[in-house]
Amino acid sequence: MLAGVSSLALLAPRARMQSALQAQQKVDTPMATDERLEAPGWWPTKRSASREDYVGTAECARCHSKMTASQLATPMAHASTPAATSGILREHEQISRRGVPYSYNITRTETGSTYSVSDGTNSISAPLLWAFGLGNKGQTYLYQRDGVFYESRMSFYKTLQGLDLTTGHAYKMPENLEEALGRAIDPDTLRRCFGCHTTASASNTGFDPTRLMPGVNCEACHGPGAKHVSLMDEEKTEQGRQAIFNPSRLSPVALVDFCGACHRTWNDVYEMDATGVANARFQPYRLENSRCWGEGDARLTCIACHDPHRQLVHEAGAYDQKCLACHPAAPARKARDHPGKACPTGKKDCVTCHMPRVAVPNMHAPFTDHRIRIARAGEPYPD
Ligand code: HEC
Ligand code: HEC
Ligand code: HEC
Ligand code: HEC
Ligand code: HEC
Ligand code: HEC
Ligand code: HEC
Repeated sequence: MLAGVSSLALLAPRARMQSALQAQQKVDTPMATDERLEAPGWWPTKRSASREDYVGTAECARCHSKMTASQLATPMAHASTPAATSGILREHEQISRRGVPYSYNITRTETGSTYSVSDGTNSISAPLLWAFGLGNKGQTYLYQRDGVFYESRMSFYKTLQGLDLTTGHAYKMPENLEEALGRAIDPDTLRRCFGCHTTASASNTGFDPTRLMPGVNCEACHGPGAKHVSLMDEEKTEQGRQAIFNPSRLSPVALVDFCGACHRTWNDVYEMDATGVANARFQPYRLENSRCWGEGDARLTCIACHDPHRQLVHEAGAYDQKCLACHPAAPARKARDHPGKACPTGKKDCVTCHMPRVAVPNMHAPFTDHRIRIARAGEPYPD
């Protein structure tokens, strides 16, 4: 950026508006999701709306057809699926894992898939009900026994093209076949799992997995759409716009907490006490620990780099302009809203060096560390 040019003038109108908004809201701080859920109004994973007010994605498609088509192609839209429609399960007639003493099999059947474990003498099995995670990294299965939901002890991992221990399950040897198959999910955890991986699983009448919509859909983020749709059908455009939650009106800090409702906010991670590489999965926490973040800036919220209605962009160069919105390409004078120093090392593909990939061992896949920094070879992972 040229010295002497106000970088504010170069910001997109929305970012400029948000900077101004942010200036008014000095007290805005990251919050835990539970606190956000208690505040009035809509928030993702909120359970207080009426189930009748959800209309489903097909309705949104009537007027937002392009956006809906591209959102439906994202992994978020496929964050869960009934086991019978899981691509991974349909593509594999059998997925096996030999072990001592426990061996596992997921076998495709006419109506879905059966998950079983054997100790060489006896075996037990359960039909799979749900597949959680599209499986770009991994996929975990849910089944029911005596009306209780269980999480499979084995998950499918893409890099292995096979089964291994589900993240969060203890490495200790199970004592019996039941334990080897999976673990019961307590009601609160169950509600949370479905809250982040499906839409409208809980409402003001409680948790009801029979009426949910699989995946993270329009209304998981924008709230129930009935009112918006009926006003728009009546061509009451202004009222209609007010009747749907638009996250772009949030301050930068609240916007990052918004994605953090599922990706975990800074406070969620602090409360979970998740230390070490495992917390690389929690982008809001990592990002807000960057020196770049300061006290929050619209040029560095999640949506500055990601459009939640589109596929994740994998070309490193596509992110350069995001960095250069603040960092000058050549040394410049430091200003209130941009640091003066330019990179002495690189001119492009900034993220390849400054947002390194870190291996999260039990996910068998790397995550992009959103703690933007000068990463030195051999340094310990900064919590
Ligand atoms: C009958 C047509 C219609 C349907 C159905 C519809 N919308 Fe809209 N929507 C509009 C129009 C018109 C606007 C205002 C112009 C624009 O931004 O495209 C709008 C704007 C919006 C906005 C931006 C509001 C703002 O702050 O300006 C959001 C978010 C939105 N719609 C989400 C949805 C979702 C989610 C659904 C499905 C639950 C949906 N819409 C269904 C017509 C519709
Ligand atoms: C209702 C919960 C929820 C909310 C809110 C949410 N996400 Fe997600 N997101 C998920 C889940 C679950 C996945 C994992 C999907 C999968 O691969 O199975 C995911 C995956 C992603 C991915 C990875 C896509 C890929 O190609 O692997 C990106 C990027 C992402 N989310 C961005 C965002 C952004 C940006 C926001 C805020 C605007 C946001 N998310 C809000 C639940 C959510
Ligand atoms: C607080 C929200 C939240 C809860 C609760 C939650 N998830 Fe997720 N889950 C996510 C988000 C966000 C991602 C994407 C980022 C990542 O991989 O960590 C994800 C990713 C996954 C993935 C990997 C998908 C991939 O390929 O990247 C699996 C599998 C998964 N979740 C299963 C589960 C299961 C099973 C439960 C409940 C026992 C659960 N999750 C509970 C938010 C949540
Ligand atoms: C993961 C959360 C998430 C999901 C899922 C999601 N949106 Fe959005 N939506 C957002 C955010 C965040 C913004 C603000 C984006 C911005 O300002 O760049 C937004 C903005 C919009 C807008 C206003 C766009 C504009 O340019 O003013 C419309 C319309 C909209 N979404 C419709 C939809 C529809 C329809 C779906 C389902 C097909 C959907 N959204 C799914 C998070 C989401
Ligand atoms: C919202 C503005 C903003 C954006 C966007 C931004 N940064 Fe920064 N960045 C800063 C500020 C402010 C500092 C702190 C500078 C200081 O204190 O001297 C900083 C510091 C840094 C540092 C030094 C960190 C350290 O540990 O010493 C690096 C490296 C860096 N940024 C790279 C990037 C890259 C790469 C991107 C894009 C992925 C990026 N930044 C995006 C504002 C930003
Ligand atoms: C400065 C740009 C930038 C910002 C801001 C940013 N991301 Fe990312 N994000 C990236 C890049 C780069 C990747 C890796 C893309 C690739 O090559 O696959 C990525 C990848 C991801 C992934 C896929 C999993 C992974 O680790 O590779 C998720 C999920 C994600 N981001 C969520 C978020 C959320 C939530 C926020 C807000 C807290 C956010 N991102 C903010 C640049 C950004
Ligand atoms: C090949 C790896 C690489 C690439 C690509 C790269 N950087 Fe750097 N960057 C570094 C290293 C290494 C340093 C630390 C230099 C030192 O301290 O000797 C650094 C330092 C920085 C600093 C801190 C400067 C200071 O003096 O405080 C910023 C800001 C920065 N880079 C931004 C960027 C931006 C923006 C891009 C993309 C336009 C980028 N970098 C591309 C490796 C890279």
